[in-house]
Amino acid sequence: MNTYELIMKKRNGYALGREEIAYMVDGFTAGRIPDYQMSAFLMAVYFQGMNARETTDLTLSMADSGDRLDLTGIEGIKVDKHSTGGVGDKTSLIIGPVMASLGVPVAKMSGRGLGHTGGTIDKLEGIPGFCTSLSEENFIAQVNRVGFAIAGQTANLAPADKKLYALRDVTATVDSIPLIASSIMSKKLAAGADAIVLDVKTGSGAFMKTLEDARKLASTMVEIGKLAGRKTTAVITDMNEPLGNAVGNILEVQEAALCLRGQGEKRLMEVSRNLAAHMLEAAGRAKNTEDAAGQIQEAVRSGKAFEKMKEFVAAQGGDAECLEDFSRFPKASLSRTITGSMLTKQQENASDWREAYLCECDNQEIGMTSLVLGGGRLTKESAIDLTVGIRLKKHLGDRILPDETVAVLYGNDEERLLEAQKRFVRAYRLSENRPELRPVVYEVIQ
Ligand code: URA
Repeated sequence: MNTYELIMKKRNGYALGREEIAYMVDGFTAGRIPDYQMSAFLMAVYFQGMNARETTDLTLSMADSGDRLDLTGIEGIKVDKHSTGGVGDKTSLIIGPVMASLGVPVAKMSGRGLGHTGGTIDKLEGIPGFCTSLSEENFIAQVNRVGFAIAGQTANLAPADKKLYALRDVTATVDSIPLIASSIMSKKLAAGADAIVLDVKTGSGAFMKTLEDARKLASTMVEIGKLAGRKTTAVITDMNEPLGNAVGNILEVQEAALCLRGQGEKRLMEVSRNLAAHMLEAAGRAKNTEDAAGQIQEAVRSGKAFEKMKEFVAAQGGDAECLEDFSRFPKASLSRTITGSMLTKQQENASDWREAYLCECDNQEIGMTSLVLGGGRLTKESAIDLTVGIRLKKHLGDRILPDETVAVLYGNDEERLLEAQKRFVRAYRLSENRPELRPVVYEVIQ
């Protein structure tokens, strides 16, 4: 067996055996297979796909590439949550404190941004002092004490995924069902939770652009979870526009705090409530969906979830006062306001319209707008700027007046801001009539 032949076998469309997959995963993790050969292999998988058996073998090889976390030291049913990646998706920062305030322990391993999408670890690093690397012992102790901890993947938890994730991020090999399913499920299996709730995004800002592909990805992951003896639920949710009002690391932490202070944007709260309800049910803490929804609403209304967020931030060394006083966060030095007329100028015939509505959004472009501002990585070595991003004042279906602010872009570099502005205004399509809105939660696969 050698790497060259395995790349060629996959490139030519053949299925690989369990040992062949393990050879690639182990060789790459140990540094015997270099990045350039693994990149070629990933691209071959991207184009040729993998069957269900190969995907499961890949997942298990990745899960076994390092240690598995032992969460038996935490009492109760541990439920984990993971999103397939979106733009403005800060639901983990909302759901974790809600769950913990309701007595459901959440021990969460999170990732960094991937492609045009954001990552929870990058977001949390925007909080001054916040530490995302915890030893296993401290991680478990914090979940027992506070009810909630988030850590970056430790060096030895699914290290194959850690290396592959960083390589996929910069080689345009993210949006592949076997690669996403194995990446997510290998981490979740290694991280040891009893039950897993997956947020599978679909739409222009998701890796799965169609509902059909999202269903395939969801079913693949639910099947892997079942084979591994973990109760797994997948909720398919909309990603045809950013989720909530903020895109960008620090801006998203601020928005999550606002949500727990009772000022959450409608769609963001609906997705968060839905995922949290499935987590409560999986933990055996809700009689039914209505019961779960009532408990979640009360956790936010009473302020308990927000208090839990502060406790969690302080436990990981972060400045919890930031969550009440946003002036304590570092800020971008430049901003650019996008008005309604800047968007209408991009549309043909718009000068004849009586009214204009936001109708469609190329949400991947919105993610790329944040990335070019400096909020994401173009190479493995890129440092990201946590202060930059976008604040949205309008959403799909909203009427747009020429002088109204649609969004504000934040950056630290004039040239990047100009490029971001060009991308942003081209990302929206307007219509003369109010468009029909899509649901934010499509379906649940169990
Ligand atoms: N999240 C992950 O952890 N991996 C992916 O491949 C996509 C989203």
